[in-house]
Amino acid sequence: MEYEKGLKKVEDSKTEWMKCIQYEDINGVGRLFGGRLLQWMDEVAGIAAIRHAGIQVTTAAVDNLVFKRGAYINEIVLVESRVTYVGRSSMEVRVDVYVEDKETGMRSPINRAYFTEVCIDEAGKSIPVPYGLEPETEAYKAEYEGAKKRIEMRKHRKREGF
Ligand SMILES: CC(C)(COP(=O)(O)OP(=O)(O)OC[C@H]1O[C@@H](n2cnc3c(N)ncnc32)[C@H](O)[C@@H]1OP(=O)(O)O)[C@@H](O)C(=O)NCCC(=O)NCCS
Repeated sequence: MEYEKGLKKVEDSKTEWMKCIQYEDINGVGRLFGGRLLQWMDEVAGIAAIRHAGIQVTTAAVDNLVFKRGAYINEIVLVESRVTYVGRSSMEVRVDVYVEDKETGMRSPINRAYFTEVCIDEAGKSIPVPYGLEPETEAYKAEYEGAKKRIEMRKHRKREGF
């Protein structure tokens, strides 16, 4: 992997994970259990953050979590993540979840969320992210600029006690 010293690209952190839904993933009404999906999203968000930072991280916050569609037994779920912004010790990670059609490969979005992952030392204290982010496309640059507004909203919510 090549990058300018001190900076990494969005694609360096991109992570994809797939799973065929099994009986143990299903809730009482025959749909994918939302808590199970959240666990997968948290893991895939953490991996993207570790790929960027190269050190241990923890999840500080999750926002914008909306379930647009259910998912069912035997369907293929794809969880995709990438770092969208880097602060002092935190990274914003976008996670998109799709169901992939087995015949056509078409992906239907079921969920999207932004995770805040924080670099921590062995004592669990926040420490600086070792690399900055160089968004390499216009879409990634727009998402990076958008993150600044989302961070202000998170700070506001934190001040309000959420
Ligand atoms: C994440 C944690 C280390 C942050 O500790 P802290 O004392 O708030 O640390 P800091 O004040 O140095 O903040 C660290 C970064 O986290 C961000 N942050 C903290 N709380 C946040 C929140 N509620 N929402 C979004 N970002 C948050 C800060 O903005 C800061 O970002 P920056 O350094 O890029 O500017 C601490 O809250 C923690 O350990 N939480 C539990 C995490 C955990 O166990 N997660 C697993 C699920 S239970």
